[in-house]
Amino acid sequence: MPIDGTTRVVGVFGWPVSHTLSPAMHNAAFEALGLNWVYLPLPLAPEQIGQAIGSLKTLNFAGANVTIPHKQAIMRYLDHIDAGARAIGAVNTIVIRDDGVYGYNTDEYGFLQSLLETGFEPQGARCLILGAGGAARATVFSLANAGARSITICNRTVERAAFLVDDLKSGFQQVVFAYETLSNRALEAVDGAVDLVVNTTSVGMKPEADTTPWPEAAPLPNAVICDLVYNPIDTCFLQKARAAGLPVIDGVGMLVHQGAKAFEYWTGHKPPTDVMRRKVIEGLASRGD
Ligand code: ATR
Repeated sequence: MPIDGTTRVVGVFGWPVSHTLSPAMHNAAFEALGLNWVYLPLPLAPEQIGQAIGSLKTLNFAGANVTIPHKQAIMRYLDHIDAGARAIGAVNTIVIRDDGVYGYNTDEYGFLQSLLETGFEPQGARCLILGAGGAARATVFSLANAGARSITICNRTVERAAFLVDDLKSGFQQVVFAYETLSNRALEAVDGAVDLVVNTTSVGMKPEADTTPWPEAAPLPNAVICDLVYNPIDTCFLQKARAAGLPVIDGVGMLVHQGAKAFEYWTGHKPPTDVMRRKVIEGLASRGD
């Protein structure tokens, strides 16, 4: 699709953005649907966020994605913030409308879809979350919103897990929340008490792909094992789970579906998720890192 005077523009704010897979994923989706849209990487230094939002409006952008390190800081520059994004405390998608700049968090939707598409039903599930950072917040909110029965958060720094639970529990009275230090002792006895384990930490990501967030000495529980790390797609954690005969869910689904929801917000079209997934897998395979 040639770029012309009617091309709609979106992009991703990050610092740095050189490694992002989003332009390839979204541009392939625009092309597949014959939409005259383009998606650009937009490197943005933290001190220039406010100016950048003003520029989006001035330059007639349709919206943008927001990634590390801007997901929280961007919130004060928006006119409207969706309730989910507010509860999670982070915005990853901006939509420019006539009446202002709107912020959403599509990570929550992306994570839920990645579970549902594999047939995992979060309603009533007992969930164990490894990590308590930004990715954990979206994951915990998503599971609580989908009707999980219990959510236990294990984090290296236990205070962060406690803070996350404190922050989210009042919105979900029916969910049993707990937290612990990520350790052998906490994890060796979870068999029979969890249906889903989700790694939201960065452990296992390239270039340290031979590491796993699950302590060597603790046996894996009989549960679905999900890893949000997608580089590599087949993490050491997932390989161990598969070798133990457990069902696994990799991080590509969440990446694709968070993008798909943003695509839908901007264009109003049903996103071609198969095309987007193929592009992400191709992009990861062609990386040398
Ligand atoms: P993100 O937004 O990607 O979640 P983050 O907010 O920096 O990033 O959170 C990273 C998460 O990975 C945290 O839970 C972090 O644990 P701490 O809170 O103790 O820092 C976890 N993490 C990172 N490296 C880790 C490691 N080597 N072992 C265990 N947990 C680790």
